[in-house]
Amino acid sequence: MDYKIETERLILAPFEDADIDRRVALANDIDVARMVTSMPHPYTRKDAIEWVTKHDAGRAAGTDFPFAITLKGEGLVGAVGLHKKDGPAYELGYWIGKPYWGMGIASEAAKAVVKWAIESRGIAQIVACYFEDNPVSCRVLEKIGFVHDGTEGACHSIGRGEKARSLNMIWRDTNA
Ligand SMILES: CC(C)(COP(=O)(O)OP(=O)(O)OC[C@H]1O[C@@H](n2cnc3c(N)ncnc32)[C@H](O)[C@@H]1OP(=O)(O)O)[C@@H](O)C(=O)NCCC(=O)NCCS
Repeated sequence: MDYKIETERLILAPFEDADIDRRVALANDIDVARMVTSMPHPYTRKDAIEWVTKHDAGRAAGTDFPFAITLKGEGLVGAVGLHKKDGPAYELGYWIGKPYWGMGIASEAAKAVVKWAIESRGIAQIVACYFEDNPVSCRVLEKIGFVHDGTEGACHSIGRGEKARSLNMIWRDTNA
């Protein structure tokens, strides 16, 4: 399977052992953990190794397609990936290390993964959700073609230690 995506500024590829230290340094941030569902906080080297160890099996089963986001000339800056839900849909998730916020990296990475999913994996339905106090993520999703599907939920965030209101979005092919 072709599992490397190159964009103007980024390389998206499987995590490598060499990414672990930077992953821990960037992910161990409550402002990241509280906006996603399943990132422990504090985030340790053990958490990172356990997470990366599952990737080969997820890819082989077709249930998880995680990518390390590398900013050319800089190194690892975050993660983006797809996780299979019950039914045909895959859920898009991402985070960027705080020193790299506001540079358009999430938008560039997420757009590239959606294109890859549709063109290389034949994935027809992609969904995403964000916590209501995270308008930046809503903006990222809107920029790359997601629209609200009219539903909401209450997802548990390990970083928050509680559930929070979340809004659901779905990707629509604007070229169709
Ligand atoms: C959300 C996150 C991924 C955004 O990453 P990023 O690389 O900084 O995002 P980008 O630079 O691609 O885009 C940010 C967009 O949000 C906009 N934005 C910034 N602050 C905003 C706000 N308060 N309200 C609305 N939009 C806002 C920016 O202007 C930009 O849109 P524009 O290009 O139209 O100007 C990053 O903040 C992060 O990792 N947060 C913690 C984890 C997380 O939230 N993950 C997503 C879970 S759903």
